[in-house]
Amino acid sequence: MSIGKLIALVVLLGGVLFLVLHLVDKPEGVLEISDVWPENDRPRERRDPIPFTRSQQCRECHPDVWREWYGSHHRLAYVNPEVQRLSKGFQDRDCLPCHLPRPIPETGFGYGIRPLERGAAREDGVDCFTCHHFPKSKVMLAAGPLGPGAANAPCQPAVAKIVQTPNLCAPCHDQHKVHQEWLESRFAVAGDGFKDCNSCHMPEVERKRAAGGPRTGRHHGFPAAHDPAMLRSAGSMTVTVAGQRRLLVVVANDGTGHNFPADERHRAVDLHLIVHTADGRRHDVRVARFRNPYRPDFEYVNPLPKPGDTYPADLTIGELGYAKVIATRIAASFHPVRKVPYPQSTQIPAGEKRSYQITLPEGSVGATLRLWYRSNPFMADKDAVLLHEKVLEKL
Ligand code: HEC
Ligand code: HEC
Ligand code: HEC
Ligand code: HEC
Ligand code: HEC
Repeated sequence: MSIGKLIALVVLLGGVLFLVLHLVDKPEGVLEISDVWPENDRPRERRDPIPFTRSQQCRECHPDVWREWYGSHHRLAYVNPEVQRLSKGFQDRDCLPCHLPRPIPETGFGYGIRPLERGAAREDGVDCFTCHHFPKSKVMLAAGPLGPGAANAPCQPAVAKIVQTPNLCAPCHDQHKVHQEWLESRFAVAGDGFKDCNSCHMPEVERKRAAGGPRTGRHHGFPAAHDPAMLRSAGSMTVTVAGQRRLLVVVANDGTGHNFPADERHRAVDLHLIVHTADGRRHDVRVARFRNPYRPDFEYVNPLPKPGDTYPADLTIGELGYAKVIATRIAASFHPVRKVPYPQSTQIPAGEKRSYQITLPEGSVGATLRLWYRSNPFMADKDAVLLHEKVLEKL
């Protein structure tokens, strides 16, 4: 074999090896920073070092944004007692990267990329720097267009469209596949119906520019699971009387861009039936629970694993006997077949419905249907959020 051929062979083998390793290294679907943030869209190095270290320093010139952020769960991410308890005061260091992060632009955007943990300013949790600071160029990234005051602003704002996209949120918010659920929803399709994370979680607000003059800003409170109005907008419950003692109840995820309840694995949404009797008693039974169970509850079996599935059930109604229920999983009209990362999950994917044909036992004179939102599955009704209620005094 000539030297030339040998070199060609080595180069070829090297190439194959590189490809194989590259494919092995990169799990399916994971994005790389160059996929979502092209080199030529990154602002170049500025000369002055950025003089800021704490989010408190942004307050003076961005007071509205600061106040909204201060009241948000992003600010709470490290000090949140729930998180402190579950992470044993962050002895579990795996919890740090998303709850006490260094800037996302430092490590990269998109899902499958984790941020790094930081050591300082703990009480600031997910702070201003997390989403805006690009340390390499010492600038604050914004989607633009920038106002006239930007050129002299000490925070050195620079335009990078990427911060306006869900790729900013994905490094932290795809742990339980929220980003990928959104990609499968009708909201991710470009056009009139397009809605991304910020369309729903960063509503537009009127404010003044730091340098004076009006502008449209984005609310930094990130309303979601701790905002009852937002929770009520997530899904609907319709109740139709279908005959004597027969009801049709439909629960739909028609208001979120991902599974409902979303992401956090302690949440539970419960459909309850309360049967009224002539002597004024009330029998309260749970018809269904929508939830992505956490590790200790993996024994749960999802009775409706695929769209179109159906199952019958008998619910005990005190001494009245049984209510007969036929439950059906109704596919979303957009993207009817969804990925199933958690087979135990009974969450309702975006656009899907669950229907319950209920036949009440004799002796039922009325019924109430309630849809509850519980921050954790053990939460009592008095602490839960009542999303929807329908009272049928007479049947
Ligand atoms: C001394 C005042 C001042 C301080 C302090 C300051 N900024 Fe700014 N910032 C400005 C001005 C002026 C602009 C230009 C746009 C405007 O007029 O609103 C701006 C713009 C921005 C923008 C771009 C907004 C847009 O128009 O899209 C971001 C993001 C930003 N600042 C983040 C920060 C962060 C984060 C901090 C704290 C680390 C901070 N700023 C501290 C004055 C300040
Ligand atoms: C560095 C990680 C990180 C990034 C980036 C991030 N988040 Fe979060 N987000 C969190 C953490 C952690 C929490 C939960 C904090 C807590 O409750 O203790 C959270 C909470 C939330 C909540 C729930 C708030 C509530 O009150 O229920 C929403 C909504 C949200 N984030 C949306 C977004 C959106 C939209 C983006 C992108 C623009 C984004 N986040 C970027 C880490 C992040
Ligand atoms: C069409 C509107 C809509 C879109 C689009 C949307 N969400 Fe939501 N989101 C909601 C509603 C409504 C809730 C409250 C109900 C719930 O928790 O399921 C919610 C809840 C959440 C929560 C709270 C989870 C918890 O249990 O604490 C997080 C986090 C969140 N969304 C992140 C995102 C991210 C990230 C994106 C983009 C990939 C996104 N959302 C897209 C409407 C939307
Ligand atoms: C979870 C991510 C996140 C955090 C935390 C965050 N921002 Fe933002 N910010 C955004 C996104 C997304 C936008 C919208 C993109 C744009 O318009 O540039 C935005 C827009 C802005 C704007 C321009 C629009 C407006 O509403 O005035 C300013 C100024 C700003 N942020 C400053 C701050 C400051 C100061 C902090 C801390 C107090 C902060 N941000 C924290 C994600 C974040
Ligand atoms: C990949 C990023 C990431 C990691 C790692 C992470 N979290 Fe979170 N965490 C989030 C996000 C994002 C939220 C916001 C709600 C949601 O999406 O579930 C959250 C929410 C929470 C909440 C709910 C807070 C509330 O009051 O609503 C708790 C509790 C929590 N995390 C605990 C932990 C613990 C304990 C660990 C470590 C074992 C951990 N997290 C690791 C991203 C992360």
